[in-house]
Amino acid sequence: MRIAISTGGGDAPGLNAVIRAIVLSAHTRGWQTYGIRRGFHGLLGEDGVMTLTPEKVRGITHLGGTILGTTNKGNPFRWIVNNPDGTQTEIDRSDDLVAAFHASGFDALITIGGDGSLKIGYDLYTKGIPVVGVPKTIDNDVVGTLSTFGFDTAVSTATEAIDKLHSTTESHERVMVVELMGRDAGWIALHSGIAASADVILIPEIAFDIEKVCEKVRQRERLGRHFTMVVVGEGAKPIGGEVQLIERRAAGTVDRLGGVGSLVAKAITERTGKETRSLVLGHLQRGGSPTTFDRLLGLRFGAAAVRAVADRDFGMMIGFNPPHLTRVPLNEVTGKSKHVPLDSDTVKTARELGIVLGD
Ligand code: F6P
Repeated sequence: MRIAISTGGGDAPGLNAVIRAIVLSAHTRGWQTYGIRRGFHGLLGEDGVMTLTPEKVRGITHLGGTILGTTNKGNPFRWIVNNPDGTQTEIDRSDDLVAAFHASGFDALITIGGDGSLKIGYDLYTKGIPVVGVPKTIDNDVVGTLSTFGFDTAVSTATEAIDKLHSTTESHERVMVVELMGRDAGWIALHSGIAASADVILIPEIAFDIEKVCEKVRQRERLGRHFTMVVVGEGAKPIGGEVQLIERRAAGTVDRLGGVGSLVAKAITERTGKETRSLVLGHLQRGGSPTTFDRLLGLRFGAAAVRAVADRDFGMMIGFNPPHLTRVPLNEVTGKSKHVPLDSDTVKTARELGIVLGD
């Protein structure tokens, strides 16, 4: 058996743990593994494919990033060609990819990715490639799994950052607005915000009323608490307002979100007169060493993906659905997004702790 591995989309801590587990689990069975470089670029005439052996994956479990490289601009079905006149054309190169896959003598593909890469994986499966998916993203927005790997590390990083901001915000008696990643899901903001004792948490699932945020600031002032911590997910929007974008990207890729933190900060200053600062935590949330939880989850995902290959159970994604790792049909998870359920105990907990969610 020759298994190809692809890591696509934004990276997430734990990717190398998944790769290592796939390589070692395959090796145990006497199988070979190959890493496609930079998403699918390696099979489309760019970069190439690397042979993965136990030696190549030695000591990488704790390392952030991916030894294969990744890209969020490499959809083979919507491949962007840069024309000499500066314009771009979109073409479908999936047939090239399928041909290259077979020409390389691969028997299975394990694609490790978020919603975009899993959709590509499913579309390749419908074109005859034996695919198994592994859910990766710090955003935790993939359906069919309680958790994606990378999420726990991002939440830990965000929690630590908010903790650090707390002391300076309190000593200067300011309002601090921290903008966190997560796209149109509020998992990172909600979990880290609660854990780090934020006073206000704004998530994409709840359109916010800025006046409710300002009222919390004023209420804290009245109680002698002269500082306020506000956490905002990058996809959060005011009632009747729009999501803030930094950059609209080419078709087939995702737009770049950002800017809501500074908007919220400006509005708080204008309405309350309090000195307010904002900070975008950005890619720090994607970097660094995976937590123990993400390492173990990544290793379990990798081994489970090889088990699915051994069972020839293709077109499936491995899901973390405690107490088991399950196999979920890829067509049931692609094109969907897992949002924070508003009736969840986590949301209820936030409200019961007095945290303002903007509604
Ligand atoms: O999907 C993961 C993620 O980190 C999002 O939270 C964020 O919006 C996006 O990727 C950023 O992508 P890029 O690195 O391309 O700016």
